[in-house]
Amino acid sequence: MPFPADFLWGAATASYQIEGAVTEDGRGESIWDRFSHTPGTIENGDTGDVACDHYHRWPEDLDLMRELGLKAYRFSVAWPRIFPEGGGTLNQRGLDFYARLVDELLGRDITPVVTLYHWDLPQALETRLGGWTARETAERFADYAATVFGALGDRVPQWVTLNEPWVAAFIGYQTGRHAPGHTDLRKAVRAAHHMLVGHARAVQVYRSLGLPGKIGITLDLQVATPDGDSDENRRAAELGDGYTNRWFLDPLFHARYPADVEALFDDRGAGLGDALEPGDLPAIAAPLDFLGMNFYMRRWYRAVPDGLGFSERLAREGDDTTEMGWGIVPDAMGEQLARLRADYPPIPLYITENGMADREGVGADGRVHDTRRIDYLRRHFAVAEEALAAGTDLRGYFVWSFMDNFEWGFGYRPRFGIVHVDFETQARTPKDSARWYAGVIRTNGADLG
Ligand code: FCB
Repeated sequence: MPFPADFLWGAATASYQIEGAVTEDGRGESIWDRFSHTPGTIENGDTGDVACDHYHRWPEDLDLMRELGLKAYRFSVAWPRIFPEGGGTLNQRGLDFYARLVDELLGRDITPVVTLYHWDLPQALETRLGGWTARETAERFADYAATVFGALGDRVPQWVTLNEPWVAAFIGYQTGRHAPGHTDLRKAVRAAHHMLVGHARAVQVYRSLGLPGKIGITLDLQVATPDGDSDENRRAAELGDGYTNRWFLDPLFHARYPADVEALFDDRGAGLGDALEPGDLPAIAAPLDFLGMNFYMRRWYRAVPDGLGFSERLAREGDDTTEMGWGIVPDAMGEQLARLRADYPPIPLYITENGMADREGVGADGRVHDTRRIDYLRRHFAVAEEALAAGTDLRGYFVWSFMDNFEWGFGYRPRFGIVHVDFETQARTPKDSARWYAGVIRTNGADLG
């Protein structure tokens, strides 16, 4: 069964990872500016100050997207460009940047898919309120969303409220490896809930405006597998699945938090308590137009006596891995899609991110022969095709990433792009995978090569 005729083949990026120009045109500071400038947080001391300089080079980038035949481009809006202080005074120049970007994409026949929150919270909200640990941040998010909907809602057909709330909340507030760098499970649990409240409020605002587009959320759904066959490890994997996947899927689609994980958080003194207000769950479970799934890995779980009671690794000995050390596991993507079909109501689905990091540079022949990435994408696309045949209502696929960029705590070392970026000269070079992907798009996946 081939891909549907209107299948949305695209590529994705995120504001802080590509834009640079962090002090330009009235942009405020984000938690990622503060975090990346804190010594010891990012590999090699890298920051997003310049990144891919996309804020200035977007015309060239959009031309390249058109050349490759991308049908859609998923990017995120930097909240601190719109509200430098998180709320209050609007920075029109920030809004103008995205308005132009949207118009220029449409002019090139590329569908803009806009993410409202890909982790660059205005630092002012962190300083003043404690970021997402405060419920008020969800209200500021709804105000910001209303402003962006008002400016772009007539011509953006597809909106993603949040990107990967699990990572934003738990890596940002529990492990401290992402901004804002807290190490407190209780804060993380509250932040996660307030993100979902913010999502719900943004969806309400969107519905009330009667706009023509679609709105959904993007979750990072990774498969949890026992690392060694024992009852303890099976329980560990079940809890790991609850912690990373069900903690978000269940409130969004079943209007409840999973009892096993609630009990675990309560036991660790990190329960939701009064952060969960009456009316929150029905609002969070309001119908969405689609679910976005980012897929990267299988997580292997083992029972351990401390922490949350489980440990995880992202590959096992001998596994074929990427530059991130993540195992290459296309079959796991199929398992996750099957699980969504089995456990959750049917909903249009988009793979909003999938791709792999390498460290390949430009060769003497001026090209980047990223054959492993081609193989990676081909195998994942084949799984998508199987899932379609099995009944997943898959509407589109966004490769992460359009170009090499600032990979958060890992800086510029891992290169996820299908377009190579020379960070000295800012030269863009489409990798072999970009050419290959252009062919997949042209033939609508008829021939994965
Ligand atoms: C996802 C993020 C994205 C990128 C990829 C590799 O978790 O959404 O920004 O970093 O991982």
